Amino acid sequence: MIGSSSKTQCLANLAIVGLICCVISLFVYFEPQSPLCPITSTLGNGKVNEEPPAEKPIVLLWFWPLGVRFDFQICSSYFNIDSCILTDDRSLYSQAEGVIFYHKEISWYLENMPKEPRPHFQKWIWFNVESPTNTEKKPGLENMFNLTLSYRRDADITVRNEVTIKKTETKEVFVLPKKDKLVCWIVSNNNPATGTPTRGKYYTELSQHIKVDVFGAAFTGHTLEYEMYYPTLASCKFYLSFENSLHKDYITEKVNGPLVAGAVPVVLGPPRENYEQFLPNGSFIHVNDFPDAKGLAEFLQRLDKDHEAYMSYFEWRKYYEVTAHLLSMTNEFIHPVCLACDHISKYKEYHVINDLYGWYFS
Ligand SMILES: *[C@@H]1O[C@H](CO)[C@@H](O)[C@H](O)[C@H]1NC(C)=O
Ligand SMILES: *[C@@H]1O[C@H](CO)[C@@H](O)[C@H](O)[C@H]1NC(C)=O
Repeated sequence: MIGSSSKTQCLANLAIVGLICCVISLFVYFEPQSPLCPITSTLGNGKVNEEPPAEKPIVLLWFWPLGVRFDFQICSSYFNIDSCILTDDRSLYSQAEGVIFYHKEISWYLENMPKEPRPHFQKWIWFNVESPTNTEKKPGLENMFNLTLSYRRDADITVRNEVTIKKTETKEVFVLPKKDKLVCWIVSNNNPATGTPTRGKYYTELSQHIKVDVFGAAFTGHTLEYEMYYPTLASCKFYLSFENSLHKDYITEKVNGPLVAGAVPVVLGPPRENYEQFLPNGSFIHVNDFPDAKGLAEFLQRLDKDHEAYMSYFEWRKYYEVTAHLLSMTNEFIHPVCLACDHISKYKEYHVINDLYGWYFS
């Protein structure tokens, strides 16, 4: 049963893999050599010359997050995770060891949740990467899940863009990308309901004291193309890594982007101490370090004229490294799903999340 269904899916996947690979490679230009397009041989009869090893657990993605489909192959090709069989085929429900539920897709009265009884070995995974401000308290989710998948450090499965310690100290010197802008901000969401007024207000004040180049749909009306994301960041000395809402551990790809591209992130989010738990001290500037936006603007202008002081914000690169996050809607949700796959294949403990919101909104 498992074998044949997976095989059918494999064949179906194969047909689209080529197409998707080409799309993906657009976004992953940081590693152009990575084997994104797996070499799969087909036999004369059209059968795939590969049986999925039976011992791999099945992990079922119950909803496509925001309805966006993506290619499960990316788990192995980009994240090197290949320890489970990922599927969206609900007919495999009774055999799945893990089922992932994207919170936003769960309907208010839970009508779109599985109706069949839950096998004793199956773990339900609550998947949410939005901050509490942007999380609806749908009723009936207490005592339902076994694992949480979120950006929080105390989640069962934490999904973040990690800064990692370099394995070997490299001699190569960091070359600052060519800069033609001082402060930049890419912002696509300006919906006040999502918590944006705090950062909007700060930006308005800041822009009265220093020039800020703004990109993205929120202010300019047109979206910045994905190909332009990293190059744009690289061309700015400072980048406004302003989160839409302020919550513990809610430090997103908005900081990872400038760190990858070689710009200094100016962060607005949880307190400095929280940032220091995730990022090397001296890799970012926190708005709370200044009495007001004017003070920050003056500091940035001073750094603009003091090359040595500015370059000290890149010292961390001698010891740490960052990884480019995948861009595009299609790729945004892949990383968490791959991590869930990895977790299910490694850990077997029994666990029930009793007070989901008590935890999440604490
Ligand atoms: C990090 O840097 C800030 C500002 O330069 C400083 O106030 C703070 O003490 C530093 N924290 C640690 C843990 O070194
Ligand atoms: C998962 O949670 C459910 C609901 O509370 C519980 O009945 C079940 O025993 C748990 N299963 C596992 C494998 O942890």
